[in-house]
Amino acid sequence: MKARSVVALTGAGISAESGVPTFRGGGSAVWKGMPFDQISSARMVRENLPEVWEWFDYRRGVLRDCRPNPAHFALAEWKRRFAEFTLVTQNVDDLHRAAGSDDVIELHGNIQRSRCTRCGKSFDIAGIVPHEPDRCDDCGSKVRPDVVLFGEMLPYDAFETAERMARKCDLFFVIGTSALVYPAVGLAEIAKHHGAFLVEINPEETPMSDVCDVTIRAKAGEFVPLL
Ligand code: APR
Repeated sequence: MKARSVVALTGAGISAESGVPTFRGGGSAVWKGMPFDQISSARMVRENLPEVWEWFDYRRGVLRDCRPNPAHFALAEWKRRFAEFTLVTQNVDDLHRAAGSDDVIELHGNIQRSRCTRCGKSFDIAGIVPHEPDRCDDCGSKVRPDVVLFGEMLPYDAFETAERMARKCDLFFVIGTSALVYPAVGLAEIAKHHGAFLVEINPEETPMSDVCDVTIRAKAGEFVPLL
């Protein structure tokens, strides 16, 4: 089958071989005794933004030494391989863009951007650790990570585009995600419901495995370049 329209949905697992800790694979899942879904929450932004920034600046420090791996680079080539290719990521690590993917749909935002809590002005803070500025230079309000936190809505346009492409694609890859967090993971079900062929690439079993037509128990960095 020659796929015309292809979608790839990626999760933290695609960056594991770049040295970025996954959320549920052990290791980085706790910060000062708080589970990551507590420190990365809308409530913590309201109650203790400096603590949220400490956690995000720590993660941004770890990312300084992380480079895209062969899976990121391979996906950056898929734009040229298929008539229509859409890359959707749950990751905020910016590694797809660093690998050359220029129009990634970032469902959960990007840790290398911050935004004003009042006027929404966006700041590129890539390479600036700790983050600067701490206050918006237009309106003086505090800035926060431009990342979707637990308890927050996904960026409407991003999800709407991803959903439209999931509906129309012939082939949908689910790469390196535990398939636990909605609505991102719902995209795979939408694709399946609309007749797409589903392929999962993950060393572990996930709740999505049974829905997929093919499950490949492999590391993304090793297998995706072979596709
Ligand atoms: N190649 C492919 N997959 C891998 C690899 C690898 N080398 N190493 C680990 N994995 C898989 C794990 O088996 C697991 O299924 O990657 C997945 C990582 O799962 P999570 O840590 O839960 O990350 P993710 O699925 O992206 O989490 C979704 O939850 O914490 C929130 O917003 C955050 O975007 C994140 C969302």
